[in-house]
Amino acid sequence: MLIWPVTRFVAGTDRHQAFEAVRELNARGLSVSLDRLGENVKERKQAEHFRDVYVRLLHGIADAGVDANISIKLTMIGLDIERKLARDHLVEILEAAEETGNWVRIDMEGTPYTQLTLELFHRVFEAHRNTGVVIQSMLRRSAEDVERLIAAGARVRLVKGAYKEPAPLAFQEKREVNDEFDRLARRLLDDGEYPAIATHDQERIDAVLRHVTERGIAPDRFEFQMLYGIRRQTQDSLVERGYRMRVYVPYGGQWLPYFSRRLRERKENVLFVLGNLVRK
Ligand code: FDA
Repeated sequence: MLIWPVTRFVAGTDRHQAFEAVRELNARGLSVSLDRLGENVKERKQAEHFRDVYVRLLHGIADAGVDANISIKLTMIGLDIERKLARDHLVEILEAAEETGNWVRIDMEGTPYTQLTLELFHRVFEAHRNTGVVIQSMLRRSAEDVERLIAAGARVRLVKGAYKEPAPLAFQEKREVNDEFDRLARRLLDDGEYPAIATHDQERIDAVLRHVTERGIAPDRFEFQMLYGIRRQTQDSLVERGYRMRVYVPYGGQWLPYFSRRLRERKENVLFVLGNLVRK
């Protein structure tokens, strides 16, 4: 069982609880991307286990008839063990998604995995079109990566980036990360394939809204995405205004790395958690 405040960001430990959250979000007009928490798996058996978890999850989504796709991390299905293993598992998951009429997002992890993830993505994308990847605006390389993904006709989720990265690879100033986010968002909205703009930052959202209004880009040509438990009212109000919103819903027992990233992003969250522990 999860304890509060983890439940603010994580839907539950099992699929049953995750599906309850999905139904509640769907009822509010929001789509979902389900993430079974876990990363940096070191044993082949465990990587196989998570491949099976995702295949079963895709069948579960089809059986339940809910509006959800899935997000996966390549290190959860074997990237730290052997590249071929991760690729084989990814292909099996994509085949299950094809069978069930679904779609798979490959999350982006820290910079030790950027090149590997993109290489693997481009390779499998030739034969399996039901997948897309993530680009982090904090990385200096991202402008080039975005051009290659646009040329390939691949779907991109644009985020700022959740990992601490060194200066040679990543912008260190918030302003630079934000400016790059706005630039890449415009590129993807103008020429990309159904981009996902994933941020809780009101200024970034406003910049996107201004751009699509100026260019006459229809609301069904892209979607906004936010994380479970963050800015619920903004999620609802964008949907009320006719925009598409997908909520990323993590669940599972291995919540600590995900939860720590959410705390690191915002000092108010740490104070919120500490305040509550003191009160108990
Ligand atoms: P920023 O952190 O600047 O926050 C802007 C404002 O949003 C804050 O002032 C606050 O109001 C609100 N906010 C942001 N974070 C909050 C929090 N934790 N709690 C409460 N309020 C908060 N990263 C990655 O490296 N690889 C990936 O694959 C993904 N995938 C992904 C999917 C989806 C759907 C989202 C929304 C995000 C990701 N990310 C990610 C995470 C992303 O890189 C980034 O770390 C977070 O989204 C926080 O950045 P913001 O763009 O929200 O802006």
